[in-house]
Amino acid sequence: MTAVFEDIDAWRAERLAQITAGLTLGFVPTMGSLHEGHLSLVRRSRQENERTLVSIFVNPTQFDDPADLARYPSALDEDLRELRTVGAEFVLLPRAEDLYADGYRYHVTEDQYSRELEGAHRPGHFDGVLTVVLKLLLIAQPERAYFGEKDWQQLTLVRGMAHAFFLTTEIVGCPTVRETDGLALSSRNHHLLPAQRARAALFRDALARSASAEDAIEALRASGFAVDYVEDHERRRLGAVRLGGVRLIDNVPLGD
Ligand code: PAJ
Repeated sequence: MTAVFEDIDAWRAERLAQITAGLTLGFVPTMGSLHEGHLSLVRRSRQENERTLVSIFVNPTQFDDPADLARYPSALDEDLRELRTVGAEFVLLPRAEDLYADGYRYHVTEDQYSRELEGAHRPGHFDGVLTVVLKLLLIAQPERAYFGEKDWQQLTLVRGMAHAFFLTTEIVGCPTVRETDGLALSSRNHHLLPAQRARAALFRDALARSASAEDAIEALRASGFAVDYVEDHERRRLGAVRLGGVRLIDNVPLGD
């Protein structure tokens, strides 16, 4: 059975009853349009906790481009079906007016790493992400929360925030789920035209196989990608590219 909550207070009452009963909770925040990447986080949470909560909320404050927000896909019925199949016990669908009753007057800002890489190309993006994640963690009250390595910078910043604010939730990073040709699963992949989709697999290969970030940029440009950035940070190579109007991000570990 999957119970769906739209009302934050109703969920909090449910969580209080769970805490009283000593039940551990794993939490998976998402923006919906669920695919195997999201579902892998739910399965991991199910393994490690007695109950699992998944939130679906397309967070307006993390979209720097209104057109990107407007075309963000939504597939609620299908999402709920998938979540029932993987056995998530609880789904939270918070309303924007409840989550942002303060009108986003209060927000979390990180002043350093959030300005680099994705942050340099998407001003305000990580303020929106960190703020909504903090709100959701405080509402969910989970023992553990699950984030994908696909969004490496997001995972790093959420971990940093949890540490900075003495949050008691453990932040768990989970491996990137990929298509067989290596393309990281993303709801944006559906916007790729067939020829672009075929080329998109070169993104991960160029990140993983190039001798340097500069070589990766050159290889990607030669294959028709517009490159926002490729940079090496702490033994990881992170990149963002565009194919037509579709923006893709990915990252790979760097060998010794
Ligand atoms: P969303 O893009 O829906 O992703 C939800 C979670 O799924 C994130 O932790 C993301 O890293 C993970 N994920 C996405 N694609 C993945 C893949 N191919 N393999 C493994 N994990 C993957 O990220 C967000 O939403 C939002 O910023 C959110 C954290 C919910 C805050 O609004």
